[in-house]
Amino acid sequence: MIDLRSDTLTKPCRNMRQAIMDAEVNDDVIDVDPSVARLQDTIARMLGKEAAMFMPSGTMTNQVAVRLHCRPGDEFLCESGCHIYNYEQGAFAQLSGVVARTFQGTNSSIDLRQLRNQIHPDNEHAVRTRLLCLENTHNKGGGVVLPYDSVAETCSWAHENGLTTHLDGARLFNAVVASGISALDWAQHFDTVSVCFSKGLGAPVGSALVGTESMMREMRRHRKLFGGAMRQSGFLASAALYAIENNIPRLADDHANAKRIGVEITKTPGLSLDLDRVETNIVIFRVDSEVGTAVEFCESARQAGVWMFPFSHQDVRAVTHLHISETDAIEAGKIIASVTELLKAKSKPTV
Ligand SMILES: Cc1ncc(COP(=O)(O)O)c(C=O)c1O
Repeated sequence: MIDLRSDTLTKPCRNMRQAIMDAEVNDDVIDVDPSVARLQDTIARMLGKEAAMFMPSGTMTNQVAVRLHCRPGDEFLCESGCHIYNYEQGAFAQLSGVVARTFQGTNSSIDLRQLRNQIHPDNEHAVRTRLLCLENTHNKGGGVVLPYDSVAETCSWAHENGLTTHLDGARLFNAVVASGISALDWAQHFDTVSVCFSKGLGAPVGSALVGTESMMREMRRHRKLFGGAMRQSGFLASAALYAIENNIPRLADDHANAKRIGVEITKTPGLSLDLDRVETNIVIFRVDSEVGTAVEFCESARQAGVWMFPFSHQDVRAVTHLHISETDAIEAGKIIASVTELLKAKSKPTV
């Protein structure tokens, strides 16, 4: 089975397992775990920030960030397709009493004109607009890298208007590899950045939130409140360290494999995809209704040996990762094409 459901499916390789075995650990709630401290220092340095906090998931780092920047009754601005808004159960409302206001992305990039009138005036009738959240790469946008100049312009507009900025960089290193722009350069526009080690980088668990030294005390409090304070978490941090030391440049292979699959899709009548938008490891393509729904397509593809997620009624998402080789990608493309042919033939009325 060629499993393209997500880049979170990867299992640690032998060397990563060895790093976990050899980890130096301590109680990271009573004291500080030395491996966690090393990971936090490393990732803070890579992103040009003063400090970082290790947490169990990208959802938690995002939600701790929202809580850090906003008080109950505050509002944040985000693009309508973003993960924080769509896939985290509205935790910002459930856990922090914060509301979100979305703006429409153009191809998941940002049109500043849309944002200009979105900040509420500070009066007793309105929520207070506090924060702008962006996502890079953009998952629902098909793994696209946000245009750098647009990010810089939008964040400086936000700062000039008294907002803080947070980046959901669950796949920031995919953006780094695809764009050639360093993590430091991307991160400089944001007050806080969240990165995941458990996606393309291949660690089993973990994310980090980076920001200033003065934010750390509050981040640590919120992490504890949300149940994310972990004891001997150095085992997990060691895997994450192994991932950032070894698995960043190879993300280019995932991007090339996604493109290989994308090329096959664009050649297949009945499927559509803008190949230029396949910039990283995510491919979101449309299945024509004459072929079937996304659910039907995914079921037939799974039976033929390629596992993907339906992403909407007609859209399917395929994600390449550490366990997908060039051969797998070529094979997956062929299977996707032949399944489409088969479904089309089945749906043709017999005369
Ligand atoms: C862009 C983005 N942000 C955040 C998350 C949440 O990460 P986690 O699954 O670790 O909570 C995901 C998960 O897929 C994601 O794609």
